[in-house]
Amino acid sequence: MAPPPRRTREEEHAPPPEPTAWVLAGRAFVQGRLQSVEIAISEEGTILSVGKVRPGPRRHDVGEAVILPSATDLHVHFREPGGPSGVESIESGTLQAALGGVALVGEMPNTTPPVTDSEALADKAVRVHRRAAVDVLLYASPTNPRALRSLARRAGAFKLYLSPTTGIAEPPAPADLAPLLGRLGELGLPVSVHAEDPTEFETEVPAKDTVDWDAGRPPAAEQTAIERLLRDAPPSLRLHVAHVTLGSSVARLRRAGISFEATPHHLLLADRRDSDARRKVNPPLRAESERKLLWEAFVRGEVPVLASDHAPHSADAKALPFALAPSGMPGVETLLPLMLARVRAGQLPLPILTASACDRPARWLGQPHGRIAAGHRAHLLVVDFRQRTRLEGRHLHAPCGWTAFEGREGIFPREHYFYGRRIVADGEFVGGARGAVVRPEFAPTSR
Ligand code: NCD
Ligand code: ZN
Repeated sequence: MAPPPRRTREEEHAPPPEPTAWVLAGRAFVQGRLQSVEIAISEEGTILSVGKVRPGPRRHDVGEAVILPSATDLHVHFREPGGPSGVESIESGTLQAALGGVALVGEMPNTTPPVTDSEALADKAVRVHRRAAVDVLLYASPTNPRALRSLARRAGAFKLYLSPTTGIAEPPAPADLAPLLGRLGELGLPVSVHAEDPTEFETEVPAKDTVDWDAGRPPAAEQTAIERLLRDAPPSLRLHVAHVTLGSSVARLRRAGISFEATPHHLLLADRRDSDARRKVNPPLRAESERKLLWEAFVRGEVPVLASDHAPHSADAKALPFALAPSGMPGVETLLPLMLARVRAGQLPLPILTASACDRPARWLGQPHGRIAAGHRAHLLVVDFRQRTRLEGRHLHAPCGWTAFEGREGIFPREHYFYGRRIVADGEFVGGARGAVVRPEFAPTSR
């Protein structure tokens, strides 16, 4: 009989392995495909190991359903502090995330006041404590040069707007962009950029519908902003481009090796001659032919990250004449369900969805989850692909009460495990307020 393998010095000094608290068994998405496995989970909520058979005190078999990693939505606006009352909060936003299968959200800094210094950041962190259903990573806005260093020690990432949008009046002057990106490169945090160049906007004629809105903030605005970024960003910058809308931007950013996201609304909805302002969003929805190019690139696996840009506004604000209505729509709860329905319809490969919604966004934010693998957090979903629903704003959990995806098909997770504890059962929230503020734990790989 072979002698037992010798233990290395590290193993002799390593703490004893954590005991298995329970085992989740079923067909799971592991190493790029669905396989029948058992997942050993610790009391602290870490995946200890994944294999054919795992001994453990408790075992939960998911039967005909499948086990997927939870998603990360790295682009949400939860409107706190300072948002209009009843539209959104950290509590209501993270509840929608939990129900939609999202275990971590990246919360944007265009709140009131904006997160431009450590005090505003600390205030937001206090608001997460004991109120959030899932984890929250807080973005800061890098518009105050004196606050940059202290923000970099406390924030999870930076968000830079190159154009005016909700809550952002003044983007940096063109000449200031290169020095700012240079400083951000030295600070090391991930940086997401809203890439529209306002010098390309054509806003003389008030927009009456989403076709006008598209013409007013045209594709050229995205292309020019991306070129400026590629010219001015130092190689050290952990750069990510938010809500890309064009097939040509996908090709350009892939060539440059830079992380970027597409949203479900730009992937699934096109502009049209319709004055319903619920479809008004920045950057605008594009023509059907352009939407199709983006969708096809996504299906080929060329879009690294799927993110919602969840940006709710009240139904009343959206009922204003189109030109006056604010831009933005809710989406964190429907991000994954919309795409799971496309997987079920045979239009989207599951490995491409899990890579873009679960694995890559978590890695860009330096978070150890998004894969079913030993050492990762046990953020896990149980999905029954037979449980299809029609989306209805009044049955979703966004306080604004509407969705631009009304009537579309969705598949919601039946169960959601957050650090190994069940927070969704039979599609209902059964968790608590255990979400916390997280910061990058390792260098994200965007380049
Ligand atoms: C966002 C909002 O309302 O906060 N609106 C939007 O149209 N996406 C701001 C933004 O991300 O541009
Ligand atoms: Zn946004």
